[in-house]
This record gives sequence, C-alpha cells and structure tokens, in this order.
Amino acid sequence: MTSQETQPGTELRSGREWFKSAVVYQIYPRSFADSDGDGVGDLRGIISRLDYLHNLGVDVVWLSPVYRSPQDDNGYDISDYQDIDPVFGDLAALDELLNGLHARGMKLVMDLVVNHTSDEHPWFVESASSRDNPKRDWYWWQPPRPGSEPGTPGAEPNNWGSAFSGPAWEYDPSSGEYYLHLFSKKQPDLNWENPEVRAAVYDMMNWWLDRGVDGFRMDVINFISKDPRLPEGPRAEGMLYGDGGPHYISGPRIHEFLQEMHQEVFAGRDKDLLTVGEMPGVTVEDALLFTDPSREEVDMVFQFEHVALDQEGGNKWRPKKLVLTDLKKSLGRWQDALGERGWNSLYWGNHDQARAVSRFGDDGRYRELSAKMLAAVLHLHRGTPYVYQGEELGMTNMAFGAISDYRDIEVLNHHREATTHLGHTDAEVLAALAPLNRDNARTPVQWDASRHGGFTTGAPWIAVNPNANTINAAAQIDDPESVYNFYRQVIALRHTDPVVAYGDFTMLLPEDEHVYAFRRSLPGAELLVLGNFSATVQPVDVGDAAWSGAASVLGNYPPGTGLTLRPWEVKVLRREL
Ligand code: NOJ
Repeated sequence: MTSQETQPGTELRSGREWFKSAVVYQIYPRSFADSDGDGVGDLRGIISRLDYLHNLGVDVVWLSPVYRSPQDDNGYDISDYQDIDPVFGDLAALDELLNGLHARGMKLVMDLVVNHTSDEHPWFVESASSRDNPKRDWYWWQPPRPGSEPGTPGAEPNNWGSAFSGPAWEYDPSSGEYYLHLFSKKQPDLNWENPEVRAAVYDMMNWWLDRGVDGFRMDVINFISKDPRLPEGPRAEGMLYGDGGPHYISGPRIHEFLQEMHQEVFAGRDKDLLTVGEMPGVTVEDALLFTDPSREEVDMVFQFEHVALDQEGGNKWRPKKLVLTDLKKSLGRWQDALGERGWNSLYWGNHDQARAVSRFGDDGRYRELSAKMLAAVLHLHRGTPYVYQGEELGMTNMAFGAISDYRDIEVLNHHREATTHLGHTDAEVLAALAPLNRDNARTPVQWDASRHGGFTTGAPWIAVNPNANTINAAAQIDDPESVYNFYRQVIALRHTDPVVAYGDFTMLLPEDEHVYAFRRSLPGAELLVLGNFSATVQPVDVGDAAWSGAASVLGNYPPGTGLTLRPWEVKVLRREL
C-alpha cells in the first residue's frame, strides 16, 4: 500500500510498488531472544539483534503480538491493544525497536488481532457484565438451543467447533447466554456487524500508525464477517463438531469491512505501508478481489492451500506424504491467478507451521542443501517472501517427548479431546501430532552453542532444540557456505534483479515428480529456476537447449553439470534476451 496509489499519475496501480522487491522477516517474540533471563524472549532481546537482521538484508519485520495479554494463545489473546505486555517490555522499548529498525532502513509491521479479543479485555468484561450492557452487542451472545439444558453438551446455539477443540461456544451462567469463540474460550469473537466495534478498531489502528509503525499483518482477518444467522455447519465423519467455516470464511460483508478499514485507516497516509491479511480457507478468486489494488482492501494475503497438501482432509493431525506435483499445481495456480492483478505472499513456514526444512526438505543428511534449495525456489516466485525466524539457519522440527513437553494450547486441547472423547491412546496422539504441531516452530532461536542456544540465561519457557550445538547463528554468520549466507544472497537478488521482483512466472515440467522448475521473465531478461526435491540425481530437459550455456546467478553446489541436478540441488540461471 503506497500513498502514490491514491494519487493518480504518480504510480501504476499494478506497477512496481515497494513491497514487490521487499522481503519480510517474522519474529515470534516469545522465542526470539531473551534479554532479562526470565526465559521468555522480549523487545530488548530483539533490539540486541537488529544488526543481525540488517546484515541478513530483510526490509520489513513482522512482529507477532507483544500487546498486553493473559498469554492463553501466546499473545493472540489481547487484553489491551495499546500497551505492551510486561513479559515483552513496555512502550518505550517498542519505540526503541521501531527507531532502531527505521535507522537501519527497515520497517516494522505489527500483528493485528481483531477477529477476537481476550476475555480479559475491558470490552469483553463490560459486555459480559449484563445482558443490557451497552457493549453486550460487541460480541456474539446467543441463548441456549431451545429446549436444551443450558450449559450441558448439545445446548450450544449451533454445532460449530473451535479451532482449538471443543465447541465454539462458552456458556456464561450469570447471564444465561453463550458467547462465540472460534479459537480458545479466552478469545471471544468481536461482532463486526456493530459499527462501534469497527470504529474502535480503526481508532486503535490509527493510533499505532501515528506512532510510526509501518503496517499490519491481520490475523484471521477473513473470519470477521459472520453470517448473522449463525447456521449449523457440515459435520465430517469422526468429528465431534460441525465446521462453521462456510458461514464465516470470507463472509458476506468481508470486502465491505476491509474497504471501510482502508478508508478509515490507510487512505491518504503519505508513507509506504504494508497490509497482509492472514486468510485461512481463502480461494484464489477471493484473493484476487482482496488484493486487486483498485479495490483498496489489502496488499496481499496469506493463503493456506500449499500447507494443507501433506494432511488428510486438511486435518493437521492426520499427516500424509507431500506429492511434489500437487505442490507445483497449487502454487502454480496461485501464481497464475494473481499474475496480472493482485499479489501473492510467499511462505514455507511461520509460528503456526512445522519447520520448512523438516517438512519440505530433508533435515538429516541434506539439511543444508535442502534448506538452501527451498529458499531459492520460494523466493524466486512472483510475490513477497516471508522468512520465519530460524528458517535462515535451517532450524529443524523438535523431537518432543511427553505431552508435558508441549506448550501450545492447540496441542494440549487436542491431546485431551482425542484421549478422553475419541478413544485414542497417548502414544497414538503424540505420533500423529509430531510432524505438524505448532511448537515445532516455537522452540527458541539458536544463537550459539552455549547453554540454551544463547537464547536465555534463565530457564527457557519451552525447550531449546538439542541440535543448537551445531545449528546456530554464530556458526553460520562468517561461513560463506552457510544457510544464513545463502539466504543473504537470495534476499539480495530480489533487490538487485528486477526479473525477481516484477517478472512474469511460468511453471515448467508440471508432471515431473522430483524437479520444481519455472521461468521468470521481463522484456530483455529471463531466469530459469530448477530445484531438486529429492536425494537422487535428476536429469532435466526444459526443451530449450540455449539454457545449457546460460550464466549461473545462484546455486547450492559449485556450478558445472549442465542442467542435471544433484541431490537437493538448486540452480538459478539468467540470460539476456
Ligand atoms: C492465527 C495465528 O497465527 C495463530 O497463532 C492464532 O492461534 C490464531 N490466529 C488465533 O489468533
């Protein structure tokens, strides 16, 4: 989002907006760096690592929530949007971080969590205080199902399940009604139908932008418009609850709400800002509407199709092997759909996903090679790439032991529900949740080989991966062959080569089961990207002999085998036309 977009004649609407050549780095503050030895990462920990980020070359930092919060969902349950949780620091530290980033030419994007608040937010406390409180309608309150015994299973107003197990409704005995929570019961959903709610959110957003932040990553923003009739959802075989998604994913007023937000918050601001909507279940058709610059909604969205391909029926607790042709088909479709208008965001991982190298690469023998290959393949797509903390070091999934080693509410609730209501054994549940659980990505960043990976001098809130001895930043920063330095090269390429930032995308070899191949092109120059998603040698024929002699601009092996790919090799070739 740029000021120029709204000033006719200064920049093309689907032109070379600043974010097309930018790379975003996500910080999950709880696990990034701890400055005060309490075992939890904090703002001053981040401030102490700003040169590390600057050296990596990223343009923007997206900071997961640091607001006041009971931390039921690690900060995605906010009790005060305009203050910092003491565990992370204070507003002075936030300002210092902002200034430190700006001084180094980087931007700060805050997390915006406004589908729901904490149940400890004063808005909800008031709303819950009585049925005739003026804020009652700020949340979704409903009477029990007619004829049911309030507070007993089945008395909920509809059959929707929560994303964190159990029903999406919590009974409040004092008022005799239920409130809706699509996530934990400590995360009640705001009622965006109420214009006062929307105005309060826009005020808060303006307060942050006036303070100097550079935009927002908008948490589950395509869930804010619910069908006010709250109809029953389809219930799949073996599931305890219905899926309300059809009634709140990109719901009836979502485009209206985002356009209103744009007008009330972003329009007319004379500064380069970034808006990215996290949108589970978003379709390509809707994503095009959300990101078409002429509609003034958001700059880009996070879609979830490619991170659902390695699970049965989109159920992360039923993992299955990823088929490369499925991945290419999915990402290729998004590239095509948002090619002319709109814009993609590109990611392998974040704080909700397993570690990229463990999931899409090989975190054993070929860890470094496959981490580099994944970086190049992702970043050279058309779109804005996101690096999740530690990905640039090739950090891996964690082998957790017992359920007591986990911290994530999603994991803990699922384990309880599956063992108590679905008849699964502890061992079955632990095996099923190992590959894709969110705590894989939440172990602390591995800074050096010292105790707790240099993350904290205290006891970390979640265990540090034991491989911090060998996989850590200190070992990689000065090693030109490291994963970290490969990320530096890939990031730099987006800044220097307009083909990377703005070129067209063409998928090649869609049926190849091991090779990910594509071409990027602008008038005058082309790139060919070839990635081997296997541990075996792969001959490649893209049907154009001229590529054999093209210049190598990037690779994870010494060049020199023509187009044949060695295990987990990536080749990036360039030619002038
Ligand atoms: C998406 C966030 O990324 C996730 O961490 C959180 O649990 C849910 N939204 C609820 O806020």
